[in-house]
Amino acid sequence: MTDASTDLTEQVLASFAGTPDDRLRAILDSVIRHLHEAVREVEPTNAEWERAIDFLTRTGQKCTDVRQEFILLSDVLGVSMLLETINGQASPDATESTVLGPFHLVRSPPLPNGAQIDLVGRPERCVVTGRVLSTTGTPLGGATVDVWQADDNGFYDVQQPDVQPAGNGRGLLTTDADGTFWFRTVMPRYYPIPVDGPVGGLLTATRRHPYRPAHIHFIATASGHKPLTTHIFVADSEYLDSDAVFAVKDSLVRPFDVVTDADQAARWSTTAPLRHASVELVLQPM
Ligand code: BEZ
Ligand code: FE
Repeated sequence: MTDASTDLTEQVLASFAGTPDDRLRAILDSVIRHLHEAVREVEPTNAEWERAIDFLTRTGQKCTDVRQEFILLSDVLGVSMLLETINGQASPDATESTVLGPFHLVRSPPLPNGAQIDLVGRPERCVVTGRVLSTTGTPLGGATVDVWQADDNGFYDVQQPDVQPAGNGRGLLTTDADGTFWFRTVMPRYYPIPVDGPVGGLLTATRRHPYRPAHIHFIATASGHKPLTTHIFVADSEYLDSDAVFAVKDSLVRPFDVVTDADQAARWSTTAPLRHASVELVLQPM
């Protein structure tokens, strides 16, 4: 490290020293120190720096109302998951949180319990039953459970507006007085994160695969409790041990049991065979 480069870092830090907002000043201080340190370590050529700027420019240009390439970048770099570990549920009794991902971009349609969220009628039937509880053990009636998932081809509705009806695979449920909720759906499948943008180029250049194991997303909210953003993962899915966005936690992996009992299927207003998963979403009081 040369004196001149350290002097430059100190000058830049000093230029922000009068920032009145304490938090903003602390963030800038840390970002500038680490960024300058990385540049000193890597010593990029001018051409490499131009490439980096071009990568970030294309990342911004790829963003639309239904595509968030910066979230995707944060996901594949593990930053989204790092934030989850810092800001997620603090109580060990609460359900673990995981990444939001870039596909919670539209409002889920409010639906009654037992609703069919697969609007296409795909053949691999699946029922999810669940309960929302407080870490105190109290069932949380009137809680909302926002659910979204990819279809059995591994695509979200917003990725295929000409193929899937809007709202396919989504639902905003409300728990009954005993905290229960349930819905009928299609078996989710593992899928690649979008690779037709700069983040896909990064994965190709680094020989990383783009797949996420099969999962269903949830955001549970209940009054007086911290909202929970999480998934359940299908226990026998491929890619459980190499999620492209590092979001798998063992406690979130669930068996999706095969149900062949016709009477049980009828009670769920469907037909056997089907798969069934149950989930408890345990929220921490505020
Ligand atoms: C998702 O699970 O929807 C997702 C999360 C991170 C990146 C891409 C997709
Ligand atoms: Fe997903």
